[in-house]
Amino acid sequence: MAVLGAALMALLLRSLPSARSSPRSACAVPTDDRFDCGPERLLARAGCEARGCCYAPSGPGGGGPPWCFFPRGYRSYRADNVTATAEGYTARLRRVVPSFLPADVGTLRLDVALETESRLRFTLRDPARQRYEVPVAAPRKNTRGADALYGVRILRDPFGIVVFRQPDGRVLIDTSVAPLFFADQFLQISTSLPSRFVSGLGERLTPLILDTAWTKVTLWNRDMAPAPQVNLYGSHPFYLALEDGGSAHGVFLLNSNAMDVLLQPSPALTWRTTGGILDFFIFLGPDPQSVVRQYLDVVGLPFMPPYWALGFHLCRWGYSSSTITRQAAANMSAGRFPLDVQWNDLDYMDAKRDFTFNKETFRDYPDMVHDFHQRGLRYVMIVDPGISSSGPPGTYRPFDDGLKRGVFIRNASGQPLIGKV
Ligand SMILES: *[C@@H]1O[C@H](CO)[C@@H](O)[C@H](O)[C@H]1NC(C)=O
Ligand SMILES: *[C@@H]1O[C@H](CO)[C@@H](O)[C@H](O)[C@H]1NC(C)=O
Ligand SMILES: *[C@@H]1O[C@H](CO)[C@@H](O)[C@H](O)[C@H]1NC(C)=O
Repeated sequence: MAVLGAALMALLLRSLPSARSSPRSACAVPTDDRFDCGPERLLARAGCEARGCCYAPSGPGGGGPPWCFFPRGYRSYRADNVTATAEGYTARLRRVVPSFLPADVGTLRLDVALETESRLRFTLRDPARQRYEVPVAAPRKNTRGADALYGVRILRDPFGIVVFRQPDGRVLIDTSVAPLFFADQFLQISTSLPSRFVSGLGERLTPLILDTAWTKVTLWNRDMAPAPQVNLYGSHPFYLALEDGGSAHGVFLLNSNAMDVLLQPSPALTWRTTGGILDFFIFLGPDPQSVVRQYLDVVGLPFMPPYWALGFHLCRWGYSSSTITRQAAANMSAGRFPLDVQWNDLDYMDAKRDFTFNKETFRDYPDMVHDFHQRGLRYVMIVDPGISSSGPPGTYRPFDDGLKRGVFIRNASGQPLIGKV
């Protein structure tokens, strides 16, 4: 325990009532600080109280402050046996009462790694069973020193982790604001935020500063034309928060399962994911540029595009033939518009099948591409990640080959999972 006495951490012991029932005083939670105890549906009073939660209908329900919320001190996991390690420290977490979810993981292992003076990582895993972890080779580095920009505290019961900025002690993360859940298909952890100036959690069309007035951000990639507030093509479970005084820090959850992130006015943030493990990186900046650089140290730099890719592109879904595509490019020249790259969307394909082209509407497809190249244009054909399964066997080789080689995701009965695009 002597190592734990180091400047970086202090152990804070807290004792809270052990009963599952919620005394009236524990329910006196200001509206903005209420954490949802009915994430899957709107609960009536009986269902809410059966979870040991507080019921107080206010507002329209669904989207605003939750009607069913956790009382203060709601019990979930307790941290035992906090031990110093070469990287930082480790602890064993035990669930003290079953949650209302199926397949709770009763014992968890916490690992905290004090990686650099500006980067801290902590993970929560099932020590008894391997769960999916994103195969990203995050850099490992351990230079725990007295000059770290952060300090850490572990709260025992209920378990919580607090990360604060050094030397002023400003709390950046405090997960004791709401209970931790770690069930097979439902993992949830909440934290306070030091201000409401939070950016990130892409890919969504939003203002730069996110709205903390009860916002739900869904991270689940899909092919969706950009519209405000909906999940788009990418998932970036990372936020940057500005603190009073202009310092900034970042938080990255390395988890690729479908997830929701909830922002509420306290201000606070809740991560809710459907699988994997909880694997957090905290970047201490202290300025926003440094936060982004520290984040890139973990996830890698953006790719370097070829120079021509930065030029003028013309693309749409709807160039229904090679004649029309040629016309589009020719009309650009005639109108003296710059054009570096001409594209086609799925229209060029035979029945929307990847790696084919329509022998009627795009009869002269190879010649068209050749002609573009002769004129100094680049050409891009869109390839969608959908392989058609609808033809009779033996009519579409990419599907037949894929079946033979077992490359497709399978459903519960072991057959290829059929999706629709
Ligand atoms: C605490 O950790 C020590 C050392 O790893 C181990 O021997 C002991 O069994 C642990 N105790 C509990 C209650 O987990
Ligand atoms: C090209 O310009 C002609 C003449 O204005 C027009 O009729 C035609 O629709 C245009 N084609 C495309 C693909 O934009
Ligand atoms: C699995 O997919 C096949 C088609 O590939 C379908 O016929 C079958 O009903 C699916 N089974 C389940 C359990 O969804």
